[in-house]
Amino acid sequence: MDRVRVELGARAYDVVIGAGLLARAGAEIAPLLRRPRVAVITDETVGALHLDALRAGLGDVTMRALALPSGEATKGWEQFSRAVEWLLGEQVERADLVVAFGGGVIGDLAGFAAAVLRRGVRFVQIPTTLLAQVDSSVGGKTGINSRHGKNLIGAFHQPSLVLADIDLLATLPKRDFLAGYGEVMKYGALGDAGFFEWLEKHGPALAAGDAALRAEAVRRSVAMKAAIVARDETEEGERALLNLGHTFGHALEAATGYSARLLHGEGVAIGSALAFELSQRLGLCAQEAPSRLRAHLRDMGMKVDLADIPGDLPDADALIALMAQDKKVVDGRQRFILARGIGAAFVSDAVPRDVLRALLIDALSVR
Ligand SMILES: NC(=O)c1ccc[n+]([C@@H]2O[C@H](COP(=O)([O-])OP(=O)(O)OC[C@H]3O[C@@H](n4cnc5c(N)ncnc54)[C@H](O)[C@@H]3O)[C@@H](O)[C@H]2O)c1
Repeated sequence: MDRVRVELGARAYDVVIGAGLLARAGAEIAPLLRRPRVAVITDETVGALHLDALRAGLGDVTMRALALPSGEATKGWEQFSRAVEWLLGEQVERADLVVAFGGGVIGDLAGFAAAVLRRGVRFVQIPTTLLAQVDSSVGGKTGINSRHGKNLIGAFHQPSLVLADIDLLATLPKRDFLAGYGEVMKYGALGDAGFFEWLEKHGPALAAGDAALRAEAVRRSVAMKAAIVARDETEEGERALLNLGHTFGHALEAATGYSARLLHGEGVAIGSALAFELSQRLGLCAQEAPSRLRAHLRDMGMKVDLADIPGDLPDADALIALMAQDKKVVDGRQRFILARGIGAAFVSDAVPRDVLRALLIDALSVR
């Protein structure tokens, strides 16, 4: 079992990573409680598979649970207000604790519900997808989607504890596992060439189910995110690097209607490949960097190209318009995460539109 501390002063917390953690949930959570009860928000898939085990693991801590529909479409006003009203109906008080038990969708929604409930109650993340364990459960970004774009409504609200039980990943469908791997790969690609190399070597075995390798990949990813968040909690600077691939990815998610055509992590993987390709076209890195990134994604059996997305996509201009909805637009200028090589990302707002447009036209033409 590993513990990674997110050093945020009075709001510091532990991310506990390991196997069999669900069975110890009560022991981990009880010290945080004023009274022995929690309100759990989950989704229907996770609830059916793992809620009984959580209930058993909570021991003397009683729980009430709400299961929302599974999938990205849940992350909107409708299910959000349902969750908030349910928590109020359950008489969750200021000193009580909300538990987010699910993937990034549930973590983001339940975290935001906790942030606004009675002007803020504490919450615990028990992430059940690879993506949520390595990324969304750590760092306190919570929120929901708007029809204007993804994650446009939300709050920074740090959890009080994160329990990442590696065993939960055993029931995750392969496609969701690989989508989460898009975020794992992202850490190496943006800031740790040694980790990227480790992933090139161990990625396939890790995807095939090796629990020790999975735990190590989660630990290294979380350690990296925790360090970045501790230095830049509200994304004034360095934290923006975690958005590698996201400007492209979010536009592609919007273009595919946040549907099963493209999962978030798949968009991040394709977006990272585009960001490296863009960096190469701008003369910032050698061709080797995008080639190596793409080769690794292919090796993992992941989506790499726009051609890997089923169905039609809008043209380059429409994709650029979707990119402009991104939260990283500052003073009307689009900011990109570019790279000087594997492990060497930086933020830039100096991408000429014609270079971007040509990149997208070429990427769309190989469909
Ligand atoms: N807050 C952040 O910092 C942050 C960072 C990255 C991504 N995100 C958000 O995370 C979301 C994506 O998260 P996700 O990929 O976890 O999606 P998700 O929560 O929709 O989970 C993916 C699917 O896996 C199922 N599932 C979850 N755990 C399972 C398990 N153990 N076994 C079987 N099935 C399981 C879910 O029911 C769902 O169908 C996006 O909305 C994205 O914006 C947030």
